[in-house]
Amino acid sequence: MTKVITLTNVSKIYETEELETHALKSINLTINQGEYIAICGPSGCGKSTLLSILGLLDQASGGEYTLAGDSVTSLSLNQAAQIRNCQIGFVFQSFNLIDQLSVFDNVALPLRYHHENFTAKEIAQRVNNCLEKVGLSHRSQHTPNQLSGGQQQRVAIARAIIANPAILLVDEPTGNLDSSAGDKVMALLEQLNQQGTTICMVTHDPRYADMATRKIQLLDGQILQAPQSPALAS
Ligand SMILES: Nc1ncnc2c1ncn2[C@@H]1O[C@H](COP(=O)(O)OP(=O)(O)OP(=O)(O)O)[C@@H](O)[C@H]1O
Ligand SMILES: [Mg+2]
Repeated sequence: MTKVITLTNVSKIYETEELETHALKSINLTINQGEYIAICGPSGCGKSTLLSILGLLDQASGGEYTLAGDSVTSLSLNQAAQIRNCQIGFVFQSFNLIDQLSVFDNVALPLRYHHENFTAKEIAQRVNNCLEKVGLSHRSQHTPNQLSGGQQQRVAIARAIIANPAILLVDEPTGNLDSSAGDKVMALLEQLNQQGTTICMVTHDPRYADMATRKIQLLDGQILQAPQSPALAS
């Protein structure tokens, strides 16, 4: 089983002038290729902090992080941006799409900043393929603000998977959606996982957490119970 992510004794301390917050304490976590992990826990327990460290949006205060076989513990901002663009797909609660660009151009964005130089034809093929996967081929020339919330989140998912990332990181993907649009987004994530995408998702919703293949419970910056993945246990 290929390991996509290994965290060893990872900690995160936020320091302000008067206050130190130990947001993560000695986190040990392995995510294997093809897994679908749900990270759960009460508000303030460190879920988003963990996801931003996994996504190289922030650096740990201590510990080791290996992503797709390479140590990414201490990178320059430029190196982190490069690796993030090629290896990591991010989906946020608030979609984070660019309203001035069409759906097509939003989804194409990671390819335009990729170290491989894709031709216009390759970009068009990949974008159209991803839009088909998320059921939005007919909306490619719209702008995000002409779409429903659920459709916007599906565009964000298409953008997150276009460069074939090693892992898809998802933070409360249904937080801004009604339950029917939320269910559709979750069904799409499940389908992508069945097609091979490795997913790590933060969710408050126990119903959605149950769709994952492994649940990780965080409390006060520590993992409460992380049962070994079946492949490692056997
Ligand atoms: N930039 C920051 N500076 C200082 N403290 C922070 C910062 N970001 C988060 N924290 C603190 O770190 C802890 C973990 O925050 P985090 O955002 O990871 O929680 P969470 O589990 O995602 O919560 P929620 O479910 O409300 O989104 C909290 O105590 C929070 O106040
Ligand atoms: Mg959060």
